[in-house]
Amino acid sequence: MSLFRAGMVVNQRHRVVRPLGAGGMGEVYLVEDLLAGGRLLALKTVRSAAENPATLDSLKREFEAMTRFRHPNLAGVYDFGRLAGEEAHFFTMEYVEGADLLDATETLGVGELCSLLVQLCRALEYLHSRGFLHRDLKPSNILVAGGGTPSPTVKVLDFGLLSETAGLREGGEAGGTLHYMAPEVLRGHPAESSADLYSLGVVLYQVLARRVPFDGPSPEEVVRQHLHEPPPPPRDAGRGRSLFAGRRSVPGAYSPRALRRRHPGRGRPAAPTRTTSTC
Ligand SMILES: Nc1ncnc2c1ncn2[C@@H]1O[C@H](COP(=O)(O)OP(=O)(O)OP(=O)(O)O)[C@@H](O)[C@H]1O
Ligand SMILES: [Mg+2]
Repeated sequence: MSLFRAGMVVNQRHRVVRPLGAGGMGEVYLVEDLLAGGRLLALKTVRSAAENPATLDSLKREFEAMTRFRHPNLAGVYDFGRLAGEEAHFFTMEYVEGADLLDATETLGVGELCSLLVQLCRALEYLHSRGFLHRDLKPSNILVAGGGTPSPTVKVLDFGLLSETAGLREGGEAGGTLHYMAPEVLRGHPAESSADLYSLGVVLYQVLARRVPFDGPSPEEVVRQHLHEPPPPPRDAGRGRSLFAGRRSVPGAYSPRALRRRHPGRGRPAAPTRTTSTC
């Protein structure tokens, strides 16, 4: 059941316009900020953070850092707080009017896809160069504004903040994110920037082939494939056939492993560092 209905005013400040969606952490609403002339924002509820004071402190600290981020391909974040009368917290962020990466790329050609990929890499490079990781890169966390126009803009969501709380989710990573996780993370090592590049490779593969590279009937099977199997060539799947007709070298370059082959942190488990991605 939804936490809020249209017309409700949350914390005496945000009037709910409509729900935008729901994910592992809570619900996302389109709201008007009544203290900012009705500016439209996205408000995301974060239920599990309230249960663990240490996580909450870390969330607040990280959130404060993120409010200072300014990048055209990262959705800006604004406020973090407790929902009055609820065992839940929330944060507000830039409202992105658009579709998620999978929907937005359904009919795009390779050239337009490359432009979106470059924007994605720029967003990751910005995060990594400031010592942050995304850790939950997947199509629902990548929106494309201005789809159908000559210059669509990628907006990456949920960076940093949700990675801190991901471990608290019921069901953990099996809630879909497993398909995008790097092998070393699945083995229990701390993520570093190369893990984001692996997820980026999975996302890109999915955009091209219209299916994830590793899938199966159980989480264990998906993990096994991540660890031991090469991805099936995207040229053999879905749109890959038409996109790559006559292009021999492209599919390999898009594989999750190849994308980060030259990355300095590859395979070396370590705390997040201020390394830069090499897209
Ligand atoms: N800033 C935003 N602007 C517009 N729509 C948004 C915004 N943030 C989220 N949404 C929409 O709400 C949906 C749910 O987002 P949410 O982040 O809760 O779920 P998720 O990405 O599927 O899972 P996760 O909890 O792992 O992030 C998204 O798929 C997107 O369509
Ligand atoms: Mg999300």
